[in-house]
Amino acid sequence: MSKTLHIKTYGCQMNAYDSARMTDVLAPLGYQAVDRADDADMVILNTCHIREKATEKLFSDLGRLRLVQEARLASGRRMILAVAGCVAQAEGVEIMRRAPHVDIVFGPQTYHRLPEMVARAGRNADRRSAGILDTDFPVEPKFDHLPANGGEPGPSAFLTIQEGCDKFCTFCVVPYTRGAEYSRPVADIIAEARRLVAGGAREITLLGQNVNAYHGAAPDGRDWRLGRLIRALAELAGLDRIRYTTSHPRDMDEELIRVHGEVDACMPYLHLPVQSGSDRVLEAMNRKHRVDDYRRVVERLRAARPDIALSSDFIVGFPGETKADFEATLRLVREVGFAQAYSFRYSARPGTPAALLGNRIPKSEAGQRLAALQDLLQQQQDSFNDATVHQVVPVLFERRGRHPSQIVGRSPHFQPVHVAADTAQIGTVADVRIVGRTKHGLIGALADASCDAPVPVREAIA
Ligand code: SAH
Ligand code: SF4
Ligand code: F3S
Repeated sequence: MSKTLHIKTYGCQMNAYDSARMTDVLAPLGYQAVDRADDADMVILNTCHIREKATEKLFSDLGRLRLVQEARLASGRRMILAVAGCVAQAEGVEIMRRAPHVDIVFGPQTYHRLPEMVARAGRNADRRSAGILDTDFPVEPKFDHLPANGGEPGPSAFLTIQEGCDKFCTFCVVPYTRGAEYSRPVADIIAEARRLVAGGAREITLLGQNVNAYHGAAPDGRDWRLGRLIRALAELAGLDRIRYTTSHPRDMDEELIRVHGEVDACMPYLHLPVQSGSDRVLEAMNRKHRVDDYRRVVERLRAARPDIALSSDFIVGFPGETKADFEATLRLVREVGFAQAYSFRYSARPGTPAALLGNRIPKSEAGQRLAALQDLLQQQQDSFNDATVHQVVPVLFERRGRHPSQIVGRSPHFQPVHVAADTAQIGTVADVRIVGRTKHGLIGALADASCDAPVPVREAIA
């Protein structure tokens, strides 16, 4: 019998990948994805724990869903409610206690067991026993038990190749919520990539919390690192673009840097978080690299691929960060020049070593520093995008835009490009003449179309 499933995804791309895999796991049970929670026989909230407020946000969503659940029950229809992801892993017991209407709580490493959990929740229809909690770190990785990915991946697909983290930056919950570092075997990754390409993907983004720490068992009996894997994937016919995220500066090895210069499919864009421009702060963060190491990696990358665009993550207001430390971050940003970046005010996460540090920076001071950094980063993003105006760039079209006659894709440098064109172009790569920019992206016209009547900028971004 057909049943409906709604998954709401928060957090990083790996959560988006996991949500898609949960859909695959539940498909044989007859579950089909729907857009609205209110229409669903089962709702999964796939949560993120990286910064504060995540838990409160979850409880407010759960409060709203309790009303939906009750309304459905009144009309004789059940709604199974599940919480997944990193908040589930970190605070599973608390969720069960505070929200007894939640049927299932499961962590990022156990969702291959969903069918069994759903069956148990189904048998427990009158909720006479407690909800189901599964936040194990199983010895056998979930990947060995997941079905082949189904559905249509879309032109740009995600593929998890590595998961977990052994780096233990002092501010970060990921080593606790995702567990120890694990790399999938090469053959499994290539098989999954083939299926994605056969399903219509033209671009694959390889995912991992520490993706460039990848070292997976290969058919030749060796461990391959990421550079070697990218070379193998680049051989797949129909796969035009390869990206990977998120990388750690320490793991940018020589071969991976060479791949940027030598493999056409490896896109000239890299998200390489630095977090701070001060050695003192990097040390307190346990980042295990210094500012100079980061500079050197950037130099080597640019020597291999002069047009590479860089992105990064920054945390401001880490405990003990002085004005001078923060100035050093601004200096590094000016020196490197980023095409885009993400920046956050430090958020103390329970259970992490940094949460115990003194010398907290007042919120208002951290807020001011963040605003100054974001101004600078926005200026850099604007000038990077300005430099693309009047150029012709190949764009992989991924989806419809908000405007009915508009579609959206990405340039090789990961800039979103909005173009007035037929939706039939989605899934193709076409040359686009860039005619303007918005705050976060570019506006263009198909280069082979008549350029006499470009779409007015306001209309194109409406
Ligand atoms: N694995 C990736 C991403 C981790 S989370 C990496 O190592 O880069 C993504 C970003 O969130 C981090 O790079 C960091 O900038 C930010 N972040 C993580 N924990 C944080 C915290 N406690 N407070 C503020 N920002 C945080
Ligand atoms: Fe978190 Fe650091 Fe690991 Fe990234 S490298 S996931 S920031 S502990
Ligand atoms: Fe968030 Fe977990 Fe990803 S904490 S950023 S969903 S790894």
